[in-house]
Amino acid sequence: MSWHLDAVIYQLHVRTFCDSNGDGIGDFPGLTSRLPYLQDLGVTCLWLLPFYESPLRDDGYDIAHYERIHPPYGTHDDFRRFLDEAHARGLRVITELVINHTSDQHPWFLAARRAAPGSRKRDFYVWSDHTSRYAGARVIFSDTESSNWAWDPVARAFYWHRFFSHQPDLNFDNPGVRRAVVKVMRYWLDQGVDALRLDAVAHLFEREGTSCENLPETHAFLKAIRSDMDRRYGSRVLLAEVNGDAETVRTYFGDGDECQMAFHFPLLPRLFLALVRGDARPIIQAVTATHPLPDGCQWATFLRNHDELALSTLEEHERATVLDACAPDTAMRLHGGIRRRLAPLLGNDRARIEVAFSLLLSLPGSPVLYYGDEIGMGDDVRLPDRDGVRTPMQWSDDTHAGFTDARARRLITPLIDDATYGYRRINVAAQINDPDSLLSRIRRLIAGRRAHPALARGSIEFLQTGSDAVLAFARTHGSETVVVVANLSSAVRSIGLVLPAQTVGLPLVEIVDDVVFPPAAATPYPLSLAPYASLWFACAAAGAPA
Ligand code: BGC
Repeated sequence: MSWHLDAVIYQLHVRTFCDSNGDGIGDFPGLTSRLPYLQDLGVTCLWLLPFYESPLRDDGYDIAHYERIHPPYGTHDDFRRFLDEAHARGLRVITELVINHTSDQHPWFLAARRAAPGSRKRDFYVWSDHTSRYAGARVIFSDTESSNWAWDPVARAFYWHRFFSHQPDLNFDNPGVRRAVVKVMRYWLDQGVDALRLDAVAHLFEREGTSCENLPETHAFLKAIRSDMDRRYGSRVLLAEVNGDAETVRTYFGDGDECQMAFHFPLLPRLFLALVRGDARPIIQAVTATHPLPDGCQWATFLRNHDELALSTLEEHERATVLDACAPDTAMRLHGGIRRRLAPLLGNDRARIEVAFSLLLSLPGSPVLYYGDEIGMGDDVRLPDRDGVRTPMQWSDDTHAGFTDARARRLITPLIDDATYGYRRINVAAQINDPDSLLSRIRRLIAGRRAHPALARGSIEFLQTGSDAVLAFARTHGSETVVVVANLSSAVRSIGLVLPAQTVGLPLVEIVDDVVFPPAAATPYPLSLAPYASLWFACAAAGAPA
């Protein structure tokens, strides 16, 4: 099986994707009606942001009931119909397992705060009489929280929270909690979801004198749930959300016995650093430091997601470089990162956006596309928190961007409506039949990737180009080698590409535009690349099966 090794993942939010009933809130029937679009785009897997019952103070990552669907998003039957239809179209589905914390409105917390100190119910969460415990743990949402402890007047004690103060952390030292979250995991696997994204999974346990992150207890728990999942369900997948350096994030694969996937946080900011500096070396460094992986494991690579662009794994001066270039206005910054979408981050420069997608879809890892980035949607930094990158999908230039019908008086979150990125200009309908649109280009990149398994499963070898501004690498799987060349700078670059021995003399067919280049009789192979141009060459020995 191992479908996750070849997946092309599309991340979306049910509430901002498509509304079927005119209440201004996206829902499962709306999403189901858009599956043909996603299938046509060529993605193979959908990752849904949390859709569970929630007071929505952290956009659904504050869960008030793990097994209930937030009512405006639809019913359980609507969810089932969506899942069946997605599966019938060959699309896998990843849902969220947010187990580090709950909402303070979750019945477990409501019971805990009223229960006697030391009782089973109270111990579902982490309590203290003072705030000096676990002083080694950093405050993650440092722009909004000043401590990891919050006072509860009902319990008359402080409770522990790594994120917002309305999100108390569950106490994983309590076996009752561990059993309860396994039950939640089984519940969604029983529904038939293919993979679970483990939100904020580095923070499950607390130990005095540590950073309370990435503790051995967390890894032991992950091994336990992985083995439970394998035993009961076969080929389902765990995807770790851990923002850390290469060494730390790699530990979440264990020896192939923890998560099969983890987000590639070390590569993410280095892709931007490379594009800002016009220098391929940060990418080479990040990829080299994160390979190989245990068998059956795969990175989930991404350019943007629903959060701020995380820069914390960069050196201070590197972070300053990216911030200055990509977030000149302080309103664009949050928690040390950048709360902007891909197109604005890259100056709305079409060639830069294309080269970013070209790298996402050709470097090792299963790529994750964030909804709307395939059409170059913009953001709205005037909206609170990270809401500015979570606005409704822009389907057309109709009223409400085709996200909902005209009955809706108010949308869950405002549309982007400015002169550059507004839905009247930037929308699916305007791009879908235009072969020169960004959407069409990305569809071709995805098709190219899927047609060449070397891009998903191949090894990687970096190639000499004679220029730090031009990244080149070979991906080899079986008898097929794909050579990728990308100019990361704003200037034309003429290079001599040192081809891998097995490709010399073979015809070079550019995959995305289907252009045949003269065979490489010798190496270095001379190439001239326009600013931000990228080329994917398929080189297969004649008659050899790929
Ligand atoms: C999610 C965020 C969320 C946080 C707390 C993260 O890792 O991606 O959107 O705010 O967890 O749940």
